[in-house]
Amino acid sequence: MTDGLADPIGLAAENGPKYYLHWGDDISNVWPAAEYPSEKRGRIFMINNRREFLKIAGLAGVGLSSAGLSSRAASSEQNASHGRSDRSNLRPDQRFNMAGYTAPKLATVRVGHIGQGGRGSGVVNQLPKIEGVEVRALCDLVPERSEAAAARLKTAGVALKPTLYTGSEDAWKKVCERDDIDLVYISTPWRLHTPIAVYAMNRGKHVVVEVPAARTVDECWQLVEASEKNRRHLMMAQNTCYDFFEMLTLNLARQGFFGDIIHGEGAYLHTFPFDPERKLKTWRLEENAQRNGNLYPTHGIGPVCQAMNINCGDRLDFLVSVASDDFRMREELNQAAAKDVFWKPLASQAGMTHRGNINTCAIRTVNGRTMMMQHDITSTQPYSRIHKLVGTKAMALKYPEPPKIAGGHKDFITAAEFKALEEKYTPGIVRRIGEMAKKVGGHGGMDFMMNWRLIDCLRNGLPLDMNVYDAATYSVVAPLTEWSVAHRSNSIDFPDFTSGAWKTNQPGMDINLTRGGTTRAL
Ligand SMILES: NC(=O)c1ccc[n+]([C@@H]2O[C@H](COP(=O)([O-])OP(=O)(O)OC[C@H]3O[C@@H](n4cnc5c(N)ncnc54)[C@H](O)[C@@H]3O)[C@@H](O)[C@H]2O)c1
Repeated sequence: MTDGLADPIGLAAENGPKYYLHWGDDISNVWPAAEYPSEKRGRIFMINNRREFLKIAGLAGVGLSSAGLSSRAASSEQNASHGRSDRSNLRPDQRFNMAGYTAPKLATVRVGHIGQGGRGSGVVNQLPKIEGVEVRALCDLVPERSEAAAARLKTAGVALKPTLYTGSEDAWKKVCERDDIDLVYISTPWRLHTPIAVYAMNRGKHVVVEVPAARTVDECWQLVEASEKNRRHLMMAQNTCYDFFEMLTLNLARQGFFGDIIHGEGAYLHTFPFDPERKLKTWRLEENAQRNGNLYPTHGIGPVCQAMNINCGDRLDFLVSVASDDFRMREELNQAAAKDVFWKPLASQAGMTHRGNINTCAIRTVNGRTMMMQHDITSTQPYSRIHKLVGTKAMALKYPEPPKIAGGHKDFITAAEFKALEEKYTPGIVRRIGEMAKKVGGHGGMDFMMNWRLIDCLRNGLPLDMNVYDAATYSVVAPLTEWSVAHRSNSIDFPDFTSGAWKTNQPGMDINLTRGGTTRAL
């Protein structure tokens, strides 16, 4: 057995190998088309798990080499372009269901924070405003950033001086290896998210990781496997799920206000001014220049998935994605490179495919709902995450602000009616901590609300609002859209990270604080 893949039904050992298939092979090459259902025809990587593969291919009971199935060598070339691996849709049954998982209560949550850049600085500033948090370690590649964050903690009156780990690419390992840290909080560039998260979970730490949690399908599985194996929380810091209107619409959805939700829309439309002076964010520019898909899907899809009970009653089934050409990025990079050689590698690498400016993706769920998700950081339009929910009885639309709700096809409800709805349906978490969150700030308060609830759950030994399956599901949109764009917008299946448990898992976000809510904001 390779790559940690068990043989869940033990056929290989029982019957010996008869068929050697490689990931990406067309089943019809090895099995007569007449003998498997037409709707299931296709390539092996379109299948959700090993058991299903055996059933579909008609191989169950015949015998199949597990080595043939999981050979990394065979698949690596096929999958390199879209981040898939031989593990992408193939895994043994779930080791342990992390949905609803509770860890022992932590009176004090001892935090090691990694990456005190733009985002991480805000996180470190907020943590001391929550009861029962100790920031014990700060790590950044750039020593001045950790030093500045530590100085801000001191100015804020925090007596405990965090240990600083700086100056080398893998100093974060030392943070994960400490035995007096409960939670590793990761705010680094994307490529480090999964490596640090997996390393930390393997050393017994709970993990919060910035968005997106993973860059490839394989990384998504790595997170799921590490969380289940170690029984450690992995939460992606999907702050948009805690924004005020998103939480109002989640409450409305749960109270049946929209009727059956049929369709949802979300986006990340955020013009990222290309500023040649901001060389320190090159990592993000590189991601956007080199990958072609919806690279930042989680802000839009998170709240829509919550409203549709994705991973707890419904599941994302497949997507198609289409990308525009690039009408701007290459030109601006070339202009920057003409003035400063720093940009030359990005601007003129031979064969580089610059990402299209606007990516649009359509998703269908197993229960027959649809979604539209968009990504655009390089054209000119006002900021928007759309956040649209359309149901049989009503709809909601956040952007362009102010947010709107409609109960019929003629017009949106009036401001007075909106206020009355808000008064009735504002969830308990907002009533409890909303005003304080607005004062602390962080995207208008949603960041603080998320971090407060995270710490509150850990201190009360409660399940976290979002689990590893949510992190993997929201993040995997990026590599799947990359694959679809690279294949003339063909459809591609979502892996079922819950291994079927989505049918019985219960919704995670406890927005009415039915449990906990005992942690003070300081
Ligand atoms: N949820 C949100 O609203 C939101 C907003 C902004 C950014 N983010 C996310 O936060 C993360 C960080 O983004 P940012 O804008 O702060 O980027 P940034 O470049 O400002 O910060 C990243 C930090 O990580 C450090 N770093 C790089 N390599 C490291 C290593 N090997 N070890 C330790 N530290 C290392 C950098 O020195 C830098 O200080 C990203 O994942 C981004 O997507 C989320």
